[in-house]
Amino acid sequence: MIKKEQQRTIYCGEVKEDSLNGKRIVINGWVQNYRDHGDLTFLDVRDRTGIVQLVFDPKTDPEAHSIAKKVRSEDVISASGIVHFRTEENINPKIPTGRFEVKCDTIEILSKSKTPPFQIDQEEINEEVRLKYRFLDIRRPFMLKNLYNRHKIVSTVRNFLNQNGFIEVETPILNKSTPEGARDFLVPSRLSHGKFYALPQSPQIFKQLLMIGGVERYYQIAKCFRDEDLRSDRQPEFTQIDIEMSFITQDDIISLMEKMIATVLKENYNIDIKLPIRRMTYKEAIDKYASDRPDLRFGLEIVDVTHIGLKSDFAVFKNVAEKGGMIKCLPVPDGSKLSRKDLDDLIAFVGKYGAKGMAWMRVKDGKLESNIVKYFSEEVQKELIQVTNAKEDYTLLFIGDTNKKIVYDSISNLRLNIADRFNLKDKNKLEFVWIVDFPLFEWNEEENRYDSVHHPFTAPLIEDLDLLDKDPLKVRSQAYDLVLNGIELGGGSIRIHNTELQKKIFSLLNISEEEAMKKFGFLLEALSYGAPPHGGLAFGLDRMVMEFEGLSNIRDVIAFPKTQKGVDLMCDSPSEVTNKQLEELGIKIVEYKANK
Ligand code: AMO
Repeated sequence: MIKKEQQRTIYCGEVKEDSLNGKRIVINGWVQNYRDHGDLTFLDVRDRTGIVQLVFDPKTDPEAHSIAKKVRSEDVISASGIVHFRTEENINPKIPTGRFEVKCDTIEILSKSKTPPFQIDQEEINEEVRLKYRFLDIRRPFMLKNLYNRHKIVSTVRNFLNQNGFIEVETPILNKSTPEGARDFLVPSRLSHGKFYALPQSPQIFKQLLMIGGVERYYQIAKCFRDEDLRSDRQPEFTQIDIEMSFITQDDIISLMEKMIATVLKENYNIDIKLPIRRMTYKEAIDKYASDRPDLRFGLEIVDVTHIGLKSDFAVFKNVAEKGGMIKCLPVPDGSKLSRKDLDDLIAFVGKYGAKGMAWMRVKDGKLESNIVKYFSEEVQKELIQVTNAKEDYTLLFIGDTNKKIVYDSISNLRLNIADRFNLKDKNKLEFVWIVDFPLFEWNEEENRYDSVHHPFTAPLIEDLDLLDKDPLKVRSQAYDLVLNGIELGGGSIRIHNTELQKKIFSLLNISEEEAMKKFGFLLEALSYGAPPHGGLAFGLDRMVMEFEGLSNIRDVIAFPKTQKGVDLMCDSPSEVTNKQLEELGIKIVEYKANK
């Protein structure tokens, strides 16, 4: 509890106006540092806005001074005193309040702190310790800034959408499984033994139902849950800016959404981006960058050289090409800087993505050099130099395999690795691109069936509809992703609004009518009651904040994140529950046996 007279009259960081000189103020906050300088005691006190220096003089205020001497780091205090200019030699230009100090005559310790596991102003702190003591970590200006800027971005987004006729609607967390492709988090039901809710991987079906319900324009800052392997830009629990609109085209959504992104950047970072954002077909992205989320801050375009492999006597290439595989080349300008050791490291690197090897050649005096050029006739070498547009000092890196996924994974990551080595990822650049015309399906080798590239509610391109029966892998979809510097910020699609087409897509996905009815019967039913044409998109809010703040760890923009292993180190969750709780749920824990 705090008494009225102990309550702050001003925030620490606001003690910076000349007009405050001689005025009495009350400060509330945490003690960052305490120093005894001969007679005087100094306390640096911090709150959300900054730090201010308090001074205690035993000659004038013995009682306050004796309390101040007992104060330690992270104690919470209330102190009152008169603001003074510091003498010239004592000015601290490093902090905004550095020209002032507060000569205090009263202080009360509102709460004592144990010795903290790290100093709040410490630079390097182990992340596990930060996560275990997240409440202390949040006191650090770095974390407070991230949370504040996240809040500002959300607030711009809400304003923008509110002004454009959207209404915010909440959808359930206790849910039926949704098909976004990851594993579900399940919640057992006490009232219906043996049955489970699934936490939403996204509000996808609900937002479509809202369109059928006539909401027209919906948004939600929505919590989503996906039990998938975590990376630096993934969390099991994350937030989407989720949007859906009725009676619109793909172009309408794209142009409104890029205006929203431009507004976020202008209002919060004073950055102007040029609209419209460029668009690239999925095919072009894959051909040039072997990835559907290309980092366009640098060139390093990939070239297909399968036809040249066929003309060579290099057994590996020839074999791959003859068996219908693929050979891709990454021409690296200034590649002569890559030492033999670098090349060996790169060979080991692409091995991680399944590549059996990486061939290379250098351009010296207009000719190719390497241990394999002897297998390429002079004419073929010339053709290689020509198609790769290789110049003096280039190094050509090659990946070939009969498994195309291995080629794409290896060479796209090789491209990023080279960009890192040559310092090509300019931190100040924001290279946005919409990837459009995704294929509707991809082939799932393991399960011998088609999978949706986005999700099963994505509409095919109208002009490709007749390919659905003839050649499903050729069907393109009305789906779009927004990519920034190689990161997928968001994605969406125009949806199927017709029961028959939706049923057909389910059947192509090998989802039987019975299974479709069980899983999505309510959606199929709803589609049969007059569904408006509709579409939408979802941005990953955490990723967006991370990218705009120039950070590389998604946990830094989330107040209480999970570790890579999905653990909350502070609350120690997931955790065991009591036998009584399990009994109520009708659940028995069987000892988990790995590899079974
Ligand atoms: P999608 O699955 O592409 O689409 O998700 C949209 C965006 O959410 C972000 N994202 C994540 N962020 C952090 N951690 C994760 N584990 C994670 N998974 C996804 C990404 C991604 O672009 N319902 C569709 C959207 C639609 O069609 O409207 C959907 O969820 O930035």
